[in-house]
Amino acid sequence: MSTHSTDHVLIFDTTLRDGEQSPGASMNLDEKRRIAEVLEQMGVDIIEAGFPIASNGDFEAVHEIAKVVRDSTVCGLARAGRKDIDRAAEALRPARRKRIHTFISTSPLHMRFKLQMEPEDVHQAVIESVAHARNLCDDVEWSPEDGTRTEHDFLCRCVESAIKAGATTINIPDTVGYAIPAEYGALIAMLFERVPNIDRAVVSTHCHNDLGLAVANSLAGVAKGARQIECAVNGLGERAGNAALEEVVMALKTRQDLLPYSCRVNSEYIVKVSRLVSTVTGFVVQNNKAIVGANAFAHESGIHQDGMLKHAGTYEIMTPESIGLVKSKLVLGKHSGRHAFREKLRELGFDLGDNAIEDAFRRFKDLADRKKEIFDDDITALVDDEVVRTNDRVRLVNLQVVCGTRAKQTADLELEVDGVVRTTTATGDGPVDATFNAIKALCPHSATLLLYQVSAVTEGTDAQAEVTVRLEESGKTVNGRGADTDTLVASARAYVNALNKLLVKRDKKAPAALTA
Ligand code: KIV
Ligand code: ZN
Repeated sequence: MSTHSTDHVLIFDTTLRDGEQSPGASMNLDEKRRIAEVLEQMGVDIIEAGFPIASNGDFEAVHEIAKVVRDSTVCGLARAGRKDIDRAAEALRPARRKRIHTFISTSPLHMRFKLQMEPEDVHQAVIESVAHARNLCDDVEWSPEDGTRTEHDFLCRCVESAIKAGATTINIPDTVGYAIPAEYGALIAMLFERVPNIDRAVVSTHCHNDLGLAVANSLAGVAKGARQIECAVNGLGERAGNAALEEVVMALKTRQDLLPYSCRVNSEYIVKVSRLVSTVTGFVVQNNKAIVGANAFAHESGIHQDGMLKHAGTYEIMTPESIGLVKSKLVLGKHSGRHAFREKLRELGFDLGDNAIEDAFRRFKDLADRKKEIFDDDITALVDDEVVRTNDRVRLVNLQVVCGTRAKQTADLELEVDGVVRTTTATGDGPVDATFNAIKALCPHSATLLLYQVSAVTEGTDAQAEVTVRLEESGKTVNGRGADTDTLVASARAYVNALNKLLVKRDKKAPAALTA
């Protein structure tokens, strides 16, 4: 049996492709570029930037990322057809390092019901698609979709043919998140055992989290010879998501005794990238999420706190600093100036342009007038709020709400829509309903509100509220976020943010039956 010779594991991030396929996790071009830049800074080896044939938006995102990213390989996804592959190659043209990732289903269930193709025709499509991709790009990845439910003989045959046709990476997707670690590891071992030319390719894992086993399966694959892990920030991805990048990286780093593999990713960027992805997608990270949840380094019980004071190692298996959580020394308040504010942003890992800093500074001053203590989380919420609003067509100008026990809840609203300020007054069943009705009156749409969620950024009654709103229109779901000390203003910001995302979605062509 020949496994891959080095102990280096490549990290392939698919936040911008599989991650964006999570319902509601849409990102615009600017947001995708910003995420790609952080992924590159942190040392991700391959960035799967999108599915170029899916829409013009996807094509442009891959093309733009191919232009700006220099150190990571930029990858575009393509089904087995020539048109898909040509489109991916075209999108990737400016890239310094590029990869075409082509796939086709190989399980009996998918071939029969989804593709309605005979296995022989699928096998032929594997050869033709990989050969065509290889004519356009030296770095070609091939995936048998639903690989973990594919018959072993057929899988081995397809993998061998894909490598012969020029594939340099063979990725084995657990598309439906069905495998368990021993089984997935055995599948990878079986390929090393039976595919004669397997040593000519890097074997990769791509595990979905439907049973909560995506990271465990990926690591089991590595233990049996895989040397690339496909993952996504915050575990984003279809349905229950992909293996979480931060969990994979920290498992490798923390358990070197049992996982003696290196990877190029600098874990100190984890908090930064997690926050950015959460902000732009509107997907709030659950408090008890491994590594990046708000409670991941919080010690509540007296016994644990006592232990921590005596020795951090008693209850902490990794340091907060190792994922980029820094305790700030600089405290800001009402009298802090631009210089201190800039310094704080730098300390918190934000890298904003002059205009964005000016806008954020204005909002910080406004916040400091209303709130006694400004915590780091306040600044983060405020800047995140600023970040999601770049390129918005609809902007909140002013909101006055009447609420309470007597008067009918009424919202007076001013919105700027495509540069024109519009005003209206609306009533509703409660102040939030009145506010949302007013927004709808000024910016008519047929979207349904799927989720309205409020949480406090910090403690205290003057804490900022962080609101998430999920809207659905014609089968498209988007999440919007907003923060403010006034819950209604935060709600309006979140709703407007979601509407802006819907406007972008309306402009995009619907991806015709794309089933990656
Ligand atoms: O889950 C899956 O099968 C995929 C493939 C396109 C790799 O995302
Ligand atoms: Zn997937």
